[in-house]
Amino acid sequence: MSSVGSEKCAIPHEAALDIERVLIPEEEILRRVRELSSQIESDYAESKNKLVLLGILKGSVVFMAELMKHIRIPVEIDFMKVSSYGGGTTSSGNVEIKLDIRRRDIEESDILIVEDIIDSGRTLSYLVEYLKLRGAASVRTVTLLDKPSRRTVDFVPDYTGFTVPDEFVVGYGLDFDEKYRALPFIGVLKPEFYEK
Ligand code: PRP
Repeated sequence: MSSVGSEKCAIPHEAALDIERVLIPEEEILRRVRELSSQIESDYAESKNKLVLLGILKGSVVFMAELMKHIRIPVEIDFMKVSSYGGGTTSSGNVEIKLDIRRRDIEESDILIVEDIIDSGRTLSYLVEYLKLRGAASVRTVTLLDKPSRRTVDFVPDYTGFTVPDEFVVGYGLDFDEKYRALPFIGVLKPEFYEK
């Protein structure tokens, strides 16, 4: 068993050994997620459409699971999986859909895309346009983390949990080489684990 961070956010977890420091402790994430849920709930309360939380696999699952528990209006969930390639400055052409949304009622759906992190902005910029073209009643975005310093395309999410510096963050769904997703906080990975 290992623990990281201050006494308050110390957490026993094997993978925590690889973490340099806790950037956002679990309690802070949960507090912010409740605020976002409440904001989302009031923004969509009057809509006649279905509210669909669309999680982008895989990183969004932990955030989405927490978010949906606190939205006290009816929500449905769906998932997409995409891959974003290259360092180009345009969104189109760099994003491949690996798993598509399948809904017959997309025209009556308010789609809220749920992401764990925005980096270049290519993935969300592409997906928002794609879902509008598919005829969604509305398309908005919520991200747990935003790294605006890494943008290569203009993109501003509708709801943001935390703006973070350009550091290698893992946990709460975010991975490095598929590891660390289960950590219940956002931590900065020790450089020796990603610098080879
Ligand atoms: C991450 C993240 C976003 C995307 C953001 O996914 O979850 O989907 O990258 O990057 P962008 O703003 O530069 O487009 P990743 O491809 O790492 O897949 P994962 O969610 O399965 O970890």
